[in-house]
Amino acid sequence: MTGQGMTRFAIRGRLLWFDADPETDARARRFIEDGALLVENGRIAAVGEAADVLAGATGLRIVDHRPHLVTPGFIDPHIHVPQTQVVASYGTQLLDWLNRYTFVEEQRFADPEHCARNARFFLDELIRNGTTTALAYGSVHPQSVEAYFVEAEKRGARMLGGKAMMDRNAPEALRDTAERGYRETKDLIQRWHGRGRIGCAITPRFAITSTEAQLEACGALAAEHPDCHVQTHMNENRSEIETVLSLFPDAKDYLAVYERFGLVSDNTVLGHCIHMSESQWARMGAANAVPAFCPTSNLFLGSGLFDRRAAREAGLRVALATDIGGGTSYSMLATAAEAYKVLQMNGQGLSPLAALYAMTRGNAVALGLDDRIGSFFVGAECDAVALDSRATPAMARRMERAGTLEEEVFALIMLGDDRAVVETYVMGEASKSALA
Ligand code: GUN
Ligand code: ZN
Repeated sequence: MTGQGMTRFAIRGRLLWFDADPETDARARRFIEDGALLVENGRIAAVGEAADVLAGATGLRIVDHRPHLVTPGFIDPHIHVPQTQVVASYGTQLLDWLNRYTFVEEQRFADPEHCARNARFFLDELIRNGTTTALAYGSVHPQSVEAYFVEAEKRGARMLGGKAMMDRNAPEALRDTAERGYRETKDLIQRWHGRGRIGCAITPRFAITSTEAQLEACGALAAEHPDCHVQTHMNENRSEIETVLSLFPDAKDYLAVYERFGLVSDNTVLGHCIHMSESQWARMGAANAVPAFCPTSNLFLGSGLFDRRAAREAGLRVALATDIGGGTSYSMLATAAEAYKVLQMNGQGLSPLAALYAMTRGNAVALGLDDRIGSFFVGAECDAVALDSRATPAMARRMERAGTLEEEVFALIMLGDDRAVVETYVMGEASKSALA
């Protein structure tokens, strides 16, 4: 295929990706020491040994990343756009943290100029960290999501999100109503959902800040738009859970609140899921809903230790996410490192390949996007990162003793962050090196 406007080039490097879950399929890991991706119009046209992919390709532009690893772009399935200046706020747990810091900061997003500046920073920072897809919360203001989508579209990035719906237990300036939340979300869906790579998510913040009427409106939106994600928070903090059960005295547990309004399906991502009962795991499993494990946030806010084993035994797809600004790092590498430590505290651990899988194909599967992103296959959208395992003196020093690929990946995850990201490709565009 040749034609006008056709762009074609190759990325050469130590290719590493997954075709399946390495914890259940021993052949899931794919590694090519001298590999190449042929990229045509942002999509992968061929993947394999460089000698094969590049054979006979005279005049083809080749970006050679060797000796760096090249993996699929990272996916962050739970993050808050308006919390870039909430990160690292001292001294509180969830409910006080929301009231003292977050609900103050999010009021600034009434101003579209502020939304635009913040969205530019946000997208830059994701790309700097190798994150090419996110499922994000805006503030209650639709303009916060509008600005995020505008920036994502400019960069050609596959980004999802929704305006937070909240109609009680928040400052007046951050409250919508059941009707207004419905209308503003509907409007975003009609204008943005499926436009290029943008996707909309129905986003009731959590059960404390939505009335029954609002959750019902969310359920109506979910029924009207089954291909939109639903995202909210659940079972993060003990005081939160007590408050929810007092606001919904008829609900047998937290999950039952969301179930009652038709908000728990295979397109639902529930942030945190720390304080869970067997019944809630089983019902989430039956619904094939997705828990989002946010280790830096869970440690920072003192929320608790996620039980990944219980989630997997219930058959769930577990997402791994930063939860900026309860979380403290934009880096999915740093996030996976903290996941490993949380799971160590639970006696579970996380293998290096399972961690890398989680950040890439695992999160793509969790979001139902594995037919487009998260892996290297012909026809996939070419979102990729080049990673330098020796990016800092400490990493280079450690790498002198790394004998296997698994050891290298583990050291990269434990010690790496944005400094290890040499380049981020968004739909085939070199995007990190293009940052101002
Ligand atoms: N629960 C409700 N809102 C939030 C939020 O912004 N961050 C976290 N971590 N939990 C929440
Ligand atoms: Zn969150």
